[in-house]
Amino acid sequence: MKNIAVLVSGGGTNLQALIDAEKRGDIKNGKITCVISSKADAYAIERAKKAGIPAVVMPRKEYANSKDYSEAILAELNKQKADLVVLAGFMTILDECVTKAYPYKIINVHPALIPSFCGEGYYGLKVHEAALAYGVKISGATVHFVNEKADAGAIILQGAVDVANDDTPESLQLKIMQNVEWKLLPKAVSLFCEDRITVKDGKAFVDL
Ligand code: GAR
Repeated sequence: MKNIAVLVSGGGTNLQALIDAEKRGDIKNGKITCVISSKADAYAIERAKKAGIPAVVMPRKEYANSKDYSEAILAELNKQKADLVVLAGFMTILDECVTKAYPYKIINVHPALIPSFCGEGYYGLKVHEAALAYGVKISGATVHFVNEKADAGAIILQGAVDVANDDTPESLQLKIMQNVEWKLLPKAVSLFCEDRITVKDGKAFVDL
């Protein structure tokens, strides 16, 4: 059974999707053993508590820089004996001390079809604002491994939705969460825990 650490910063709907999937038995060979939040007031912490999962609050603002913060996160992940780290709406970019310690063991969900609307500065609603400003007709979400470059690691799963003429950043965000993120993130986590993802030449291949 693999220990899953989920890192959060906000509402935690993706964390909830993982908790619900685990309860249904849809996360095979994996268990969410801790939640780490970069914000003290994140609602995701309540979700963890309600599910009986230990939550650790590590506010980003209490650390001088990204390196210090990443070292503290790494120490906590090691202490928790994490086998898989899931970034579920985690809004801080981690330094390479973490990505190097957990190669192909950190999974992120990004609310766009990578390589569009991704990288530094693209997070949360900003991603959907950019997609609507560009006028794309489809958008979606990507579940990918995390490496030292923001949103540039090997893609595991992607899913798309149609963009409607009257979509707002908020409506597009919700549509992508409901139709893609909340389904594909638990699926990718289970595939990882079942050892059904292989990586070759920097690309991920899923045994579906
Ligand atoms: C989700 O849409 C997630 O994909 C996005 O933030 C939202 C968090 O929602 N993540 C990023 O933009 C990371 N670059 P949640 O807290 O309700 O899961």
